[in-house]
Amino acid sequence: MIISFDERGLALAVDTLRRGDLCAFPTETVYGLGARADQDAAVSSIYASKGRPRTNPSIVHTFDAEHAFCLAMDVAALASRLAEAFWPGPLTLVVPARPGAVSDVATAGGSTIALRVPRHPMAQALLRAVDLPIAAPSANRSEHVSPTLAEHVERSLRGQVLVLDGGSTGFGIESTIVRVHGDEMELLRRGSIAVEELETFGPLLDRAAKIEDVGAALPSPGLLRRHYAPAIPAQLSRGPFTDGRAAHLVFEGTQTPPNAPVVALGKDAATYARGLYAALYELEQAQGVTRIVIEEPPELPAWAAVRDRLLRAVED
Ligand code: TXA
Ligand code: MG
Repeated sequence: MIISFDERGLALAVDTLRRGDLCAFPTETVYGLGARADQDAAVSSIYASKGRPRTNPSIVHTFDAEHAFCLAMDVAALASRLAEAFWPGPLTLVVPARPGAVSDVATAGGSTIALRVPRHPMAQALLRAVDLPIAAPSANRSEHVSPTLAEHVERSLRGQVLVLDGGSTGFGIESTIVRVHGDEMELLRRGSIAVEELETFGPLLDRAAKIEDVGAALPSPGLLRRHYAPAIPAQLSRGPFTDGRAAHLVFEGTQTPPNAPVVALGKDAATYARGLYAALYELEQAQGVTRIVIEEPPELPAWAAVRDRLLRAVED
């Protein structure tokens, strides 16, 4: 059920979360599927609703850095500096967890915790009002495209959940994830914060670069090759396009077959990222098509996060 973000909607969302039930809410990246992070049963229902493997830990959200770092152990100076620079905002920090601070279901029994302080005003208002750490993965069926509209959440999770409606999210792709170990930084997932910005804080080991290499020593379980995938097969390719049974995602002005469904997102990487998931939700539903053909993005630093998501969305 989609509810508006007004006084009544917020009160309902707060009651729902405090009771241990699920509530989806907007952040500046994508919608999250929230549950109180301190109760096993509450966090478990996230996994049941998404069909998510319980080996994949969830990000825990708080409204400020102080509350976030209460859940961590021995916060490194580097983690504090990153938090000061980027929170509230689309950066997730993986740090040593304080044992017992949240349910083991949220950390998947591991020794680290992923912390995020979102900037979106509705996420801020909700987290402040509920006053509990909230575990929240993206609010989609496991491996499906992340939601950037309340309607996407209903569609992907097949209507099972309360969704606080915040309209379209801002950045359109998920937060950048960095693991901090003492004075070392590892990039676990590309996102809206550029690698160059993080590198001003020190050397950054890029563990998010080679998605083909993922295997036994997965630095982050969510780095699995197939992810963010639409409901019908997708492929990357260069135009012009001629397959009339395919739906198309292009930059602009690329030739596509007459009458074939097409979304053009333009040539600006930030605008493209904002529209990407909504385009995939639209094209996977287009009538009479069996696949989505996506125009290959440029190999430029500004497109790194979009390229990463597109490579995971397509068939091998
Ligand atoms: O923008 C975002 O980060 C959104 C919004 C809702 O905050 N959340 C999101 O969550 O994208 P999710 O679960 O879809 O992706 C979180 C990623 C997963 O790949 C998971 O494996 C990884 O974070 N992760 C969570 N806890 C971790 C940990 N302790 N160590 C390493 N990776 C972790
Ligand atoms: Mg996700």
